[in-house]
Amino acid sequence: MATTRKFTVREGRSSDCEQIYHLIKELATYEKMGDRVQITPEVLKQHGFGKHKYFHLLVAECSPDDDSELAGKIGGYILFFFGYDPWQGKYLYVEDFYVTSCCRKIGMGSALWKAVIKVAAREQCELMQWCVLDWNQLAIDFYKRFGATDITKDVGELFRLSHNQLKEIASKIP
Ligand SMILES: CC(C)(COP(=O)(O)OP(=O)(O)OC[C@H]1O[C@@H](n2cnc3c(N)ncnc32)[C@H](O)[C@@H]1OP(=O)(O)O)[C@@H](O)C(=O)NCCC(=O)NCCS
Repeated sequence: MATTRKFTVREGRSSDCEQIYHLIKELATYEKMGDRVQITPEVLKQHGFGKHKYFHLLVAECSPDDDSELAGKIGGYILFFFGYDPWQGKYLYVEDFYVTSCCRKIGMGSALWKAVIKVAAREQCELMQWCVLDWNQLAIDFYKRFGATDITKDVGELFRLSHNQLKEIASKIP
């Protein structure tokens, strides 16, 4: 039987960070990297809603009338920030996109995705981009339905220096 769960998409708030933290862990587990999450709800609050905002949030909140334990709770979220492409200009980068399993296939993901596209358009971004794991065909199909193109071959390999490496290297720089 089709679910008739109702929800609204809104901007995230500081008070959402505890729930978002749990959803971040769910997404990391779905991506088989659950043990790598180091963030805490407190750090999310500070970095998303403090003096300097390092990310933005859109959340899908289930109706308070929902007849499940999800009543009034967040079922899905998008975490994004703005970047700069020296060839094209400002862009919106989607870091996390997740809908908890019991809220899928009712249009929640599409509603969040349309909302973030509206933010990108409103903020006059030249483009919007994100990464998806190569085995996540469900998500790849979702993005292709919006006409997104795979730019993996254009952008090359992704490199990283860890927190400890940064500290160690920086400490040796006079
Ligand atoms: C990818 C993801 C965000 C999509 O979220 P979602 O809420 O299920 O998305 P939607 O409900 O909007 O659409 C998904 C499907 O449900 C269908 N659907 C939408 N509304 C529906 C409704 N009222 N009744 C039945 N089906 C519906 C859509 O047509 C679509 O079907 P299709 O895939 O067969 O074409 C979600 O599956 C998810 O979180 N997956 C795990 C994490 C993940 O992969 N994140 C992306 C990382 S890059």
